[in-house]
This record gives sequence, structure tokens and C-alpha cells, in this order.
Amino acid sequence: MRGKEMVKGKFVTFEGCEGSGKSTQLKLISRYLDGEGIPYIMTREPGGSPVSEQIRKIILDGSNTAMCDECEALLYAASRIQHLREKVIPALNEGKLVLCDRYVDSSLAYQGVARGLGLEYIGEINKKALELCPPDLTVFFNIPPDKAFVRKNGADENDRMEKQGLEFHKRVYGGYLQLLDKYPRICAVECGGAIGETTQNVINLLKEKGIIQ
Ligand code: TYD
Repeated sequence: MRGKEMVKGKFVTFEGCEGSGKSTQLKLISRYLDGEGIPYIMTREPGGSPVSEQIRKIILDGSNTAMCDECEALLYAASRIQHLREKVIPALNEGKLVLCDRYVDSSLAYQGVARGLGLEYIGEINKKALELCPPDLTVFFNIPPDKAFVRKNGADENDRMEKQGLEFHKRVYGGYLQLLDKYPRICAVECGGAIGETTQNVINLLKEKGIIQ
């Protein structure tokens, strides 16, 4: 269990609204780490391991219109803990850097704030995950959703979360800003400029925080 054993790897999570360019940035950061020969894994939520990928399909399936908010939050939490045990913790224990596209802060912003379930409830159902794997650093790609949606040419109508509409995504963004205020481990990277500039800013941040050298 993390916390009881010596853990060598660092755990870095990435957050942001839809269309923030997160996926593109993560590919570029992977390329940089490959070039530097740094041992790492890149993974994602929801999903990242076989069982969690199956849960991901249920959550994001656009035809699951009857899903209640609590079920949604619990499925994200279920996918998360399975992914930690199956993939994240073993990699950390091998001393690898683990980079994860979304983590508990997504649940806090999307389900806690935007769905209105509250930060406390989301904290409760994710308590075990946070005990096992508190992030060493969380990078927040900061771009308001109205700008981000323009950039990605609108929402994917087959994706249950993306099709929630701009008002929902504005609440998500507001949630992230609250979290940014509350948790010093979350650092914002502005991402309205050139792609390469943002990548460099993230790499600088990883160095500054002692995640890589
Ligand atoms: P994905 O296609 O991976 O989106 P993105 O590329 O924007 O990361 O889908 C993940 C969706 O799930 C995304 O809309 C954010 C949402 N989500 C939550 O609502 N809560 C969570 O805890 C997580 C991890 C994701």
C-alpha cells in the first residue's frame, strides 16, 4: 500500500475543461520524456485498465440518459480505484513517473460542483483513492470553456459528458477555479497561446516542482 511502503515514483495528474488541448499536450510531453529517457507511464481516467475501460464505456455512452448523478459519480470512483490498483500503484512502486489524464479533481469539478453533488460527498467516495495515491502535482490547463469549445469545433453529441452544454461546462470551469484556490498542489498553466509554448511551460513546471530534472 502506498504510504506504508517506500514509494519511489511521482504521481502527476492533468486537469482541464473539454477542448483545453490536454490530449495534444500530453502527447507532446510524452515525446519529451521519451527523448530524455525518463521512465514513466501515461494513463487516463476514466479507463486506463481493462476493467476501468469497460466502466468508461457505460459512463460515456450517450444512450444512458437515465443515469442519475450519484451513479455517475460512483462509477467514476469505481473506475478510479480499479485503475489505481491495477496500473498506477504498480508503476509507482517500480519507481516510474505516472502521468494521469484526469483524476479526483475531475470528479470534484464535474460531479461535485457542476452536477451539484457537493465537494464533501465526492471527497467521501474518493477517500480511499486519495489515501492510496495523493497527487504530487496537478497541472490545470487553464482556458475558459467558451474559448475551448470554439477551438474544438463544438461538442461530440455521442459523448454523454460533452453534450451537457456550455452552461454545464462553465460550472465545471468555476469548480476548477475553486479547487485551484483551495489546493496548493494544483498549478495552472495558461494555454491560450502557441501549442509549443504551453508544452514548454508544463515541462518547466515539472522541473520547478522537482518531478523531473
Ligand atoms: P474524455 O473523452 O477522456 O475527455 P477529455 O479528453 O476531455 O479528458 O472523457 C472523460 C469525460 O469524463 C470528460 O467529459 C470529463 C468527465 N469526467 C468526469 O465528469 N468526472 C471524472 O471524475 C472524470 C475522471 C472525468
